[in-house]
Amino acid sequence: MVSKVRSIGLFGLDAYMVEAEADVCSGHSVFDLVGLPDSAVKESRDRVRSAIKNSGYKYPAGRITVNLAPADVKKEGSMYDLPVLLALLIAYKQIEPKISLEDSIFIGEVSLDGKLRPVNGVLAMAISAKENGVKNFFVPKENAAEGSVVEGINIYGAETVEEVVSHITGFTQLEPAPEFDRLSKSSDFAFLDFSEVKGQAAAKKAMEIAAAGGHNLLLIGSPGAGKSMLAKRLPTILPEMTFDESIETTKIYSVAGELEPESPLITGRPFRSPHHTVSSRALAGGGTIPRPGEISLAHNGVLFLDELPEFGRDVMETMRQPLEDGRVTISRVAGTLTYPCEFTLVAAMNPCPCGFFGHPTRKCTCSEAAVRKYLGRISGPMLDRLDLHIEVPPVDYGSLKSTQKEETSEEVRARVNRAREIQNKRYAGLGITCNARLRPGMLTEFCKLTPEAEGLLKSSFDRLGLSARAYDRILKVARTIADLDGSELIGLPHIAQAIQFRSLDRKFFAG
Ligand SMILES: Nc1ncnc2c1ncn2[C@@H]1O[C@H](COP(=O)(O)OP(=O)(O)OP(=O)(O)O)[C@@H](O)[C@H]1O
Ligand SMILES: [Mg+2]
Ligand SMILES: [Zn+2]
Repeated sequence: MVSKVRSIGLFGLDAYMVEAEADVCSGHSVFDLVGLPDSAVKESRDRVRSAIKNSGYKYPAGRITVNLAPADVKKEGSMYDLPVLLALLIAYKQIEPKISLEDSIFIGEVSLDGKLRPVNGVLAMAISAKENGVKNFFVPKENAAEGSVVEGINIYGAETVEEVVSHITGFTQLEPAPEFDRLSKSSDFAFLDFSEVKGQAAAKKAMEIAAAGGHNLLLIGSPGAGKSMLAKRLPTILPEMTFDESIETTKIYSVAGELEPESPLITGRPFRSPHHTVSSRALAGGGTIPRPGEISLAHNGVLFLDELPEFGRDVMETMRQPLEDGRVTISRVAGTLTYPCEFTLVAAMNPCPCGFFGHPTRKCTCSEAAVRKYLGRISGPMLDRLDLHIEVPPVDYGSLKSTQKEETSEEVRARVNRAREIQNKRYAGLGITCNARLRPGMLTEFCKLTPEAEGLLKSSFDRLGLSARAYDRILKVARTIADLDGSELIGLPHIAQAIQFRSLDRKFFAG
């Protein structure tokens, strides 16, 4: 008898339906398993064999053939243990399902003693399973909460093979996982707040503009000036995540195996800060079974690159295209695969190797050539993608000791939200969500200037010798400053402030 048990597979974030077909016939005792990569086959066979015996069932005598269809897609190994095992038991008439298995799928690695071990990617699978009309999804217990985020599909979490068998043979009933409470919020950043940063009015304003328009930001300052402190608080002033954003980001964490069981849905914007020794692959994603990289784990959140000049050239190069596109494409033998990566980039650096170039009181000990070489490590195209450049001076003693109440993240976020609403309306249906993503062809339509603003922009260009590439960014940033101001026209003060965020070009980068 040939049995069929349904399952599901993932390629990146895309799921496809899988079927385990088993056949047992008389003959020599062999176990053929096709449709898995060679390396995974042996291990899977061994686990399934032991799990069957140790769960109290008879291991089929004779010739066993199991096919995981579609056979032309190379599947990740361990998560098909459960459907393979069930297909075998049914084919060998060890068990007789009392429920229809047509609209059920099964996933899970089995241990030798018949326990179910969690797998990666259950959220993306559950979403796709539901779209494919699947009603019941059997997963290892640890994955149940994650699956329950999806409405309209029963998620059954089981600890052992026996529990699953007992359910499908009608002896005992597994309880579907309780519906996920969509209103529960994790409080990842509850302990961080903008009000902890004393003084630094200019830097904070720049962060607010970055948050409001989705702009990437470069912070330059001496050691201890508070660059890291500021960067870590950017997620606290970004708009709260929408449910859809939460789902998108959680899928990536789930596939990467980085989801914490206690918070099955990511509701706080991610903050990723890879060390400068990070490899291109760890940053962009990759591997035999391509895993999302840091830039995708930062999707809908913040990627912080501390000590930017220390990052390898190739690493910075890897980021260029994804930064532009908001998604990263990874090429594999099996085909290309895409992960989203829309994040706000915050880069921080010292102004020179010793860290004190331009410091109000300390003396820089670096030679001019050393300073130039250090700054030169950041390529023009990289600088191009950082809309706002801001110098973070050391906080003065007066501000640090001041008891004056600083603005809280919540207060800043309220302004950010208002500016975002304006952008959402303006760009509805255009495929972009914020000013930072304005395409060159859109600038004339959406960045209209008053005559005075126009005049200042022109004279600044002539006077400061601004590059053409600085032009677009000044306009986009000015657009955001005007939005924070509630003004549809970009006026003189908006342009003036935007130009200031380019002044470091000349001080540090001579461009
Ligand atoms: N404006 C400020 N208000 C309150 N505390 C501050 C401020 N600036 C700096 N500090 C204190 O100084 C510490 C060092 O700041 P931070 O680590 O952010 O500096 P940094 O600019 O990232 O330095 P480095 O270049 O060494 O990485 C902070 O943890 C904080 O305790
Ligand atoms: Mg730091
Ligand atoms: Zn120096």
